[in-house]
Amino acid sequence: MKTRITEMFGIEHPIIQGGMHYVGFAEMAAAVSNAGGLGIITGLTQKTPEDLANEIARCKDMTDKPFGVNITFLPTLNPPDYPAIVKAVIDGGVKVVETAGRNPSQVMPALKEAGIKVIHKCTSVRHSLKAQEIGCDAVSVDGFECGGHPGEDDVPNFILLPRAAEELEIPFVSSGGMADGRSLVASLALGAEGMNMGTRFIATKEAPVHENVKQALVAASELDTRLVMRPLRNTERVLTNEAVEKLLEKEKRLGDELKFEDIIEEVAGVYPKIMKEGEMDAGAWSCGMVAGLIHDIPTCKQLVDRIMAEAEDIIEQRLAGFQGARVPAQ
Ligand SMILES: Cc1cc2nc3c(=O)[nH]c(=O)nc-3n(C[C@H](O)[C@H](O)[C@H](O)COP(=O)(O)O)c2cc1C
Repeated sequence: MKTRITEMFGIEHPIIQGGMHYVGFAEMAAAVSNAGGLGIITGLTQKTPEDLANEIARCKDMTDKPFGVNITFLPTLNPPDYPAIVKAVIDGGVKVVETAGRNPSQVMPALKEAGIKVIHKCTSVRHSLKAQEIGCDAVSVDGFECGGHPGEDDVPNFILLPRAAEELEIPFVSSGGMADGRSLVASLALGAEGMNMGTRFIATKEAPVHENVKQALVAASELDTRLVMRPLRNTERVLTNEAVEKLLEKEKRLGDELKFEDIIEEVAGVYPKIMKEGEMDAGAWSCGMVAGLIHDIPTCKQLVDRIMAEAEDIIEQRLAGFQGARVPAQ
């Protein structure tokens, strides 16, 4: 399958693995890239820019295919050293950067000068247009279904993707709720030129997370996510658990008085405990509604091959079959 996204990133299949905190290590990115998609290392999971440089080098040892680095701009008082992170990316010879969290204008000049393609992940048409205006090469349009931060507009992908198609000139991929060949064909029909998956890629053999996390995804249904931190306008979609229920109870009790400090126990520093130690009730961790569509733990190659085969089958059999004249003889 050839789209502007496969051409732009030099990949075989129009499937991207979005940056994920404490999941997007070199093993994850390399497995997705080796499967013909675009794997992405999560820049901020690495404690220092030097660590990121090492992670990029490790990924290069595991794949000779293109891969990217995610740079997330966090709403924090002590921002990470973004110029040093960008330098590690450029010096490491990385050709694609996924930005997220905020308009990436501060890093655009350096990335563009280095010839790096930038795909910005955002949750609204207006932010997508801003990304296009400041020179991003592509956009990841992240609907309300998504795991992680869906923004505050709550527009799901059945509306958001065609709206993006109406307005954007640069290519975009769908993001949020994507799991299989049906997701890919639907995304293409709605105007996207590929899809970005987060949660689905966690339930793969190579995902470098504790087995408990993978099993939790297989066990979860589409009803098992919750939105937390909405009162702080930093909404995050997470898998429900004891800590999340406690957090939501605090949100309800404190109302407009809620401050970040009130929920620090449930959200700060919990990722290593969950992803590495498998302590599933340690805190709130991002997870998409798509958990309801995850029923197995394949390798990344099995997953990507299955998606592409299913997509082709849908296009050639199911959809073509609806056109009377082209119904294949029974
Ligand atoms: C566990 C987890 C951690 C994530 N961490 C990040 C992150 O650090 N930066 C980022 O830009 N997106 C992050 N995301 C969002 C994903 O990159 C992707 O946009 C999202 O998962 C898409 O929705 P889906 O989960 O329905 O596929 C995270 C998602 C998950 C599930």
